Amino acid sequence: MHILVLAPDAYYQNWKNAFEKYGKAHQLYFDLEEGLAIAEKIDVLLLWKHPQGFLNRFKNAQVFYSMGAGVDHILSDPSYDFQTPVCRVIDPYMADDMGNFLLMAVLNYHRRMLEIQANERQKNWDNTTLQNIPVRIGVMGMGHLGQAIAEKLHALKFPVVGYSNTAKTELEYRCYGAANMNQFLQEVNVIILLLPATPSTQGLLNREFFEKCHPGTYIINVARGPLVVIEDLIESVDQGQLSGALLDVFPEEPLPKTSPLWTHPKIQVTPHIASITAPETAASQIFKNLEGFTLGNPLNYQVDLSKGY
Ligand code: GLV
Repeated sequence: MHILVLAPDAYYQNWKNAFEKYGKAHQLYFDLEEGLAIAEKIDVLLLWKHPQGFLNRFKNAQVFYSMGAGVDHILSDPSYDFQTPVCRVIDPYMADDMGNFLLMAVLNYHRRMLEIQANERQKNWDNTTLQNIPVRIGVMGMGHLGQAIAEKLHALKFPVVGYSNTAKTELEYRCYGAANMNQFLQEVNVIILLLPATPSTQGLLNREFFEKCHPGTYIINVARGPLVVIEDLIESVDQGQLSGALLDVFPEEPLPKTSPLWTHPKIQVTPHIASITAPETAASQIFKNLEGFTLGNPLNYQVDLSKGY
């Protein structure tokens, strides 16, 4: 197959060895201009933060493949035809990595690590006022990653409740559907966001949403930036309706240096590192899937285009 890889240089460098190892049966291209010159020959595009507006030039492409778990960079590309199948990486390593990041985030909040570290900087020996914060965790978005983290927290005996488009009844903990959002919000005081970015989740966490949360709720966003209205979040934290937030994803990345989030005392930012696709496992999965496809098998890890995830 002729496969065009479009990803930022620094990102691609991390993948290079894995591509060479698992993709050696194929003709690989890494440059947009080079790809456009032979556009009609390209069978598959592997995409991560690719330049927008060119997908419809690859008229014979049979798959657009996301090199990560999210596919919003493909579905939001105005040149995407909403017909060519889209696949994404579903990697157990990513779920473990994301799980550990979220465990760290929950424990830091539960054990008040930020305040303890601030005291340390002041040489302040305070072991009387920093009681644990009791946490009741709500995971919004119960796909592969959401269920993995909810299971991990549940196994560690943290109270966990799920929220997804449709309620799930087969789990060991409650999982509300969209119709019961208010009930979900009443049961939790830490919200982990793992929803996909779609038109219906854009701006979902806004002032109105925060007003329905328990006073003092803590927000952790490891999904996509546009889910949260940043001005509303800051205002709700400043007014005490929310106790704080940890944000790993932003409407604009890298987060601009002028953003007030960098210095907000109750909001921590991390540079989209909660879970990074592991090139070795992802590349082996991608090329195995494509090999099956060339033999006539249906594609695995395909996105439901009507849902957008
Ligand atoms: C990371 O954000 C991914 O979608 O894989």
